[in-house]
Amino acid sequence: MAERVTSVSGLWQLLLLLAVGIRLSQQASIGESASDSFYTAGVVEFRQANGYDANANLADNLAGYLELINSPNASSVDIMVFPEMTLNGLSTASFVPSPDEEVTPCLVDPSANYFEPFLVELSCAARSVKRYIVININEKQLCSDTPEDTRPCASNGLNTFNTNVVFDRNGTVVSRYRKVHLYGEPRNSTFVPESVSFETDFNVTFGHFICFDILFYAPAHELRLKQGVRNFVFPTMWFSQLPFLTAVQVQMGWSYANDVNLLAAGASHTEYGSTGTGIFNGRQGTITSVMKLDEGERRIYVAQVPKFQSSEVKGRRHVLSQIHMAGQKQRLSQSQEQSSLARSRSGFVMKRDTLELYESVLLPQESNVTKDVCHEKLCCHFELEWSPVDTGAGNESTFGYRLAAYDGWRNEQDVDNNYVRNCGIFACSGPNIKDCGLLLKANDLNHNFSRLLIEAKYPKSQEFLLMPNSVRDNLLPLEPSQFEWSVQEEEKSHLLSVRFALVKTEALSNLLTFGIYGNYYDDICTYGTGTPEKDIQCGFKPINDGAAELRFFASWLHLLLAVALIVHLRN
Ligand SMILES: *[C@@H]1O[C@H](CO)[C@@H](O)[C@H](O)[C@H]1NC(C)=O
Ligand SMILES: *[C@@H]1O[C@H](CO)[C@@H](O)[C@H](O)[C@H]1NC(C)=O
Ligand SMILES: *[C@@H]1O[C@H](CO)[C@@H](O)[C@H](O)[C@H]1NC(C)=O
Ligand SMILES: *[C@@H]1O[C@H](CO)[C@@H](O)[C@H](O)[C@H]1NC(C)=O
Ligand SMILES: *[C@@H]1O[C@H](CO)[C@@H](O)[C@H](O)[C@H]1NC(C)=O
Ligand SMILES: *[C@@H]1O[C@H](CO)[C@@H](O)[C@H](O)[C@H]1NC(C)=O
Ligand SMILES: *[C@@H]1O[C@H](CO)[C@@H](O)[C@H](O)[C@H]1NC(C)=O
Repeated sequence: MAERVTSVSGLWQLLLLLAVGIRLSQQASIGESASDSFYTAGVVEFRQANGYDANANLADNLAGYLELINSPNASSVDIMVFPEMTLNGLSTASFVPSPDEEVTPCLVDPSANYFEPFLVELSCAARSVKRYIVININEKQLCSDTPEDTRPCASNGLNTFNTNVVFDRNGTVVSRYRKVHLYGEPRNSTFVPESVSFETDFNVTFGHFICFDILFYAPAHELRLKQGVRNFVFPTMWFSQLPFLTAVQVQMGWSYANDVNLLAAGASHTEYGSTGTGIFNGRQGTITSVMKLDEGERRIYVAQVPKFQSSEVKGRRHVLSQIHMAGQKQRLSQSQEQSSLARSRSGFVMKRDTLELYESVLLPQESNVTKDVCHEKLCCHFELEWSPVDTGAGNESTFGYRLAAYDGWRNEQDVDNNYVRNCGIFACSGPNIKDCGLLLKANDLNHNFSRLLIEAKYPKSQEFLLMPNSVRDNLLPLEPSQFEWSVQEEEKSHLLSVRFALVKTEALSNLLTFGIYGNYYDDICTYGTGTPEKDIQCGFKPINDGAAELRFFASWLHLLLAVALIVHLRN
């Protein structure tokens, strides 16, 4: 029976892969879990218990985890990833062994005297199913373990962290990562921010990071750039925000822009706006994904993930390195209104960006629109063509779109902020900016776009990530087959020409957002944002250098020619 179910789920994976156009050559025989060309991953979308009794919640969650681990759907996976903060609470925080000690809680502490019982049970479960399992938990650690940390310890002698724990097929803790960019959570940060990756027996090295970390350079983007990591595990409890930051929209954009595999596992609670799970294959797009808008679920999504052949690094077993937290945390000084919440008719709570800070114009009524919108130093060029869709709302409908530009810090209180340079078009339920960034339904969206093009020149910077960003009314993004994306270096200008367009054959009538998301992180050393001296200090050569040399050379040439001419005439 189990065999049968396995092959059915294998077939289902094959169909799924075919549907998204993964090259057939990357397929191996079904039933095999990993080969030279792929591995099998499972990501879990999980609705956590949220009653008043912390112990009952933990028991319920743990039972759910074990059921998924032992489910037929999971039987072929090499690695299984659970979401952020969907297991234990602070009151049941557990010690976690250092990966260097190669501890197997199931073997060293079977009666769970030192580690919390749930950690021991999950170590035993990983051992029993012989699979890599990634969980995210509340971790506690004795302050005395880190004597180098000079900050005051809490009165109970403990630090608490939001931590990913990785068990290998023997149930051994082989990796541990503590969240760097906390999202207003009452947890500690490590004295030295961590950057962590781990190797597996299927020859893939994974980096890990957690939820809000995805909007920052270190450790996520840095692992890609500095260590060449091409596969990531990403437990998350995302609070989706329109128009640019709903969960799968961000996951897909990050995987695409970095051209990496991303295994994202999301907590599933519509009343907090949390959902969003998927497996993304870089420039090839989504392999599987889900946004559960109606109600939460406990489910595993399984897929074969193509390996990157060429530049895969051979990392160490686990890498720990210091992150350079460039500059001081920048916060918005002016007190601005909190990003508001928009509750859709289905009960899904959606956050909204402070679009009032953007420069924006209503999409004109004519069907062919060419327009530039600028904010601060960023100018966005839009070319659009659309036709009206009869939604049954007749000419009473006030729904429309805005074309917008933003060059500034993200406006969110009490958390790490990042600098963004965004160009985008987004849907609005009315003529005012406050009507934009809401979760609209298909029958509200009365524009059918047959052409969408955004072009902008983006400055180079020390650390930054330019991402295609789009989302439809089902809260899933466009796939690479539907868009064109290019980033081109401009000669001698320190600028990049970015172009994001809908492919010619495509028409869209269910669009919420289409944009270029330029994440400049701490905005350190962005060309043209300071004095010419600062640009030079940041390593940007003066742009007219070459030209000046040429002019200098040319004037010498003229002089020589003139002298030669005079000499010639005299003779
Ligand atoms: C991993 O690499 C080793 C050595 O290159 C090879 O023998 C083995 O078959 C590989 N395993 C997988 C699952 O690719
Ligand atoms: C950990 O967090 C607690 C509570 O916020 C705080 O009192 C303590 O100083 C923190 N410890 C360190 C080492 O920062
Ligand atoms: C699991 O344990 C066995 C025997 O104890 C050992 O040979 C094997 O290398 C271990 N596997 C991993 C992935 O560490
Ligand atoms: C197992 O997969 C089937 C079909 O793909 C799906 O309907 C079911 O919900 C899955 N079950 C779990 C527990 O993930
Ligand atoms: C819009 O402009 C394009 C050329 O830029 C033209 O081919 C097309 O017919 C125009 N569409 C409408 C509806 O005017
Ligand atoms: C809307 O359409 C109705 C008929 O369908 C017409 O009587 C009315 O004048 C229209 N209103 C506007 C503002 O165009
Ligand atoms: C949108 O326009 C395309 C042609 O450009 C057409 O094929 C499609 O049916 C239209 N969709 C809707 C919902 O009107």
